[in-house]
Parts: sequence; structure tokens; C-alpha cells
Amino acid sequence: MPRRLAILLSGRGSNLEAIARAVGRGEIRDAAIVAVVSDVPSAPGLARARALGLPAFAIDRVQFSTRRAYEGEVLRVLEAARPELLCLAGYMRILSPEFIGRYPGRILNIHPSLLPKHPGLNSQQRALEAGDTVAGCTVHRVEEGVDSGPVLLQRTVAIEPGDNVESLSRRILEEEHRAYPAAIARALEELPAQP
Ligand code: GRF
Repeated sequence: MPRRLAILLSGRGSNLEAIARAVGRGEIRDAAIVAVVSDVPSAPGLARARALGLPAFAIDRVQFSTRRAYEGEVLRVLEAARPELLCLAGYMRILSPEFIGRYPGRILNIHPSLLPKHPGLNSQQRALEAGDTVAGCTVHRVEEGVDSGPVLLQRTVAIEPGDNVESLSRRILEEEHRAYPAAIARALEELPAQP
């Protein structure tokens, strides 16, 4: 039985694609992406998922009056797909404690900074403004609170003189595409397989 992954995203989907390609190359051993869910129907990541032949679900947040109702629909889709691990990949919503409680220790997120430095938005810009000499990315388990939770893996990127937000973000993203598949493989090894 392949290990079952679900991806939640809101935008571009380059991490989704990196994960899918790593699965395809066997770098995440014996795994399958069983659902890609986006809260934004127009997210390019959903189109990428479809192009990769993955099951893609748009669950438009604005069609639901409450977070509870929206998350209920996401949970319904996930319960049918039965993922062992949920991977947030540019998913721009904060999950409720109730949602997180349904997948304890089984939700991962990737963030473009060396957490605990620069949580939240515009991390690359804040690393530059702080005069940091090293930036990078972090894969962590999701707990309540923005970009908190135990770190699984970090990869560093040197900040060069003359770097701007675009150049630094591009190099961090390249490392994200290595870090996320590696962290997923590690997390799956540590998780007992589900029946
Ligand atoms: C990445 O930089 C990730 O770290 C952050 O959102 C961005 C998503 O990019 N959480 P993509 O949609 O995977 O291309």
C-alpha cells in the first residue's frame, strides 16, 4: 500500500510539483498524492495538479460563511481520500485547533525562513532588512499558532551582497523544493503506517 499524501495550497504550487516529481522519482518511497486541495479555485497550483494527473479539489473559502463550515468541507474531502500526512504548500489559511486535532502530528508546513526567525509574511524581505547573512527554509510540524511547531528540516541559503527580494526568494525556493520531499520522506518513516 503506498503512503498517502494530501497537499493543501492556495497559489503557485511549485512545492506541490516538486513533491509530485520526487514521488515519481521514488525519492519519497512508495508514496502517492491522493488529494490536492485549494481554497482558491483559480490557484495555478490546482491547474498544475490536474496537469500532473492528480486528484484536485477546489473548495472556495468565500462560498462558506464560517471557517467551521469551510473546514468541514475540506475534512469531508480528506476523509474520502484518507491521507496519512497533510502537507501545507503555500496554503494561506490558518487551520483551527479542531482541524489540527483531526490529524495530530500529521500536518507539515514549509516556510521561507529559518524559523523561529521571520514567521508570517514577507520573510525574505525581513531577512534582508534585518541584515541577516544567512536565510533559508524550514519544514515543521503544524501546531496552533502561525509558523510554529517542531522543526523537521532546515536548509540554508547564503545572502549575497546585492541580493534583492526576488533573487533571494528564488534561491530559497530552490532549497524548498529539495527540503520538502526530504522532510516528507523522513516524516513518513517516523509515522506508523495507517491501515
Ligand atoms: C513558499 O515560499 C512556501 O515556503 C510558502 O509559500 C510559498 C509557496 O510557493 N509557505 P509555491 O506555491 O509552492 O510555489
